[in-house]
Amino acid sequence: MSDPIAAQTAAHTDLLRHKISTRTARVGVVGLGYVGLPLAVEYAKAGFSVTGVDLLDSKVARINAGDSYVQDVPSDEVLSLVEKGRLRATTDFSAIAELDTINICVPTPLRKTKDPDMSHIVSACQQIARHFHPGMLAILESTTYPGTTEELVLPMLSKSGMHVGVDFFLCFSPERVDPGNASFQTRNIPKVVGGVTPVCTEMGRLFYSQALETVVAVSSTQVAEMVKLLENTFRMINIGLVNELAMMCDRMGIDIWEVIEAAATKPFGFMPFYPGPGLGGHCIPVDPFYLSWKTRQAGIEARFIELAGYVNGQMPHFVVEKIQNALNSRRKALFGSRVHVVGVAYKRNIDDIRESPALDVIHLLKRRGGVVTYSDPYVPSIRIEDEILFASDMADTLPAVDCAVIITDHSDFDYEAIVRNAPMVVDTRNSLRGINSEKIIRL
Ligand SMILES: NC(=O)c1ccc[n+]([C@@H]2O[C@H](COP(=O)([O-])OP(=O)(O)OC[C@H]3O[C@@H](n4cnc5c(N)ncnc54)[C@H](O)[C@@H]3O)[C@@H](O)[C@H]2O)c1
Repeated sequence: MSDPIAAQTAAHTDLLRHKISTRTARVGVVGLGYVGLPLAVEYAKAGFSVTGVDLLDSKVARINAGDSYVQDVPSDEVLSLVEKGRLRATTDFSAIAELDTINICVPTPLRKTKDPDMSHIVSACQQIARHFHPGMLAILESTTYPGTTEELVLPMLSKSGMHVGVDFFLCFSPERVDPGNASFQTRNIPKVVGGVTPVCTEMGRLFYSQALETVVAVSSTQVAEMVKLLENTFRMINIGLVNELAMMCDRMGIDIWEVIEAAATKPFGFMPFYPGPGLGGHCIPVDPFYLSWKTRQAGIEARFIELAGYVNGQMPHFVVEKIQNALNSRRKALFGSRVHVVGVAYKRNIDDIRESPALDVIHLLKRRGGVVTYSDPYVPSIRIEDEILFASDMADTLPAVDCAVIITDHSDFDYEAIVRNAPMVVDTRNSLRGINSEKIIRL
């Protein structure tokens, strides 16, 4: 081959292709959370030697002891992979020098101003860059605004004078994991990947096809970044729409749940979304604001996102008003009343309370003088401002409260017992459907 650049590209791609397809590539995952740990375990199960890198000693120690802290990843699976030498964790970024691939799965929260907080991506990439070497494939999986991979990550990894698509390969692949979903997990959720160059995309596709069932290659990192934002913005806006309809139906005395159930019988052109106490989790309330931040820089206001954000943000207030009205109907004031919150995780059957609307509802109740207790089999304690609340036993607590409010519809709850034991129940999830009682106040 006379072209030296083509020869260099071919040398790196041939070697990496060989290592990936023979599963001798040494795989790295930076950030061992809800996204990174399941991915690391999936690659170890596929036969790769996997090294997880995290800042937290506690997480690293637990992985190396075969003790999982992610609900969807069983500890016995982690233990068996650690014992076979296929999975290990470290806080030492110099381990990257020995790796062939690296997936970056660090958090991307919002600042208080609702601007993206890129500090985790930046600090992870600074550390990675110190040990990054020719022939490596890097894939960013953290949800972020379109352009991040090429505007932010690429310059940091190119610092050492290496050229993307020639000396190393860089892709973006949105993570779509849905914690607590028994049907769809890392392995069988189709994986979208887009590279900076066509060779990068090819390497990304080859990498994912070793351990995951379906890989969808797209033409660029920006398309891949935007895919995730479309998916989550779609959910956020539709939830906003149905939350607004729920408030309208409440005013008109119409049962929103019955409306949705009947509308969902249409076999085409309709997809049901359900109202609730507000958005929660690390994704749906956060990701769309990454998009609106980016489009604002291009002079376009993301009006649907801002509007849905406003409507969804009203829901905890609407729930508290429902509680207040329910108490008023019994000649009681919220001030001094005992309110028991049933479920505080941001969604059913999981232990994650990030952005959970329960925290907002509790905060608002306390601000209005309510005395708040809660139960959640997945969440032993929560912090509300300076106070720590501990979960209480529902059977003991309910008979002594003035009102219960169902915020999270965990499957473990005995809903008939809740209605039996509480003097009244505000149900924000329709989890009491089928139960007839004057004690029930539905959203
Ligand atoms: N949780 C979900 O359901 C979900 C779903 C899809 C996408 N995502 C996206 O995936 C990304 C990760 O989310 P998550 O829920 O796994 O977060 P997480 O908080 O559970 O895990 C992130 C991990 O990264 C570690 N970390 C932080 N900074 C680091 C650094 N500089 N170097 C090394 N490790 C570092 C943290 O200690 C933590 O263990 C986010 O961008 C999120 O939006 C999350």
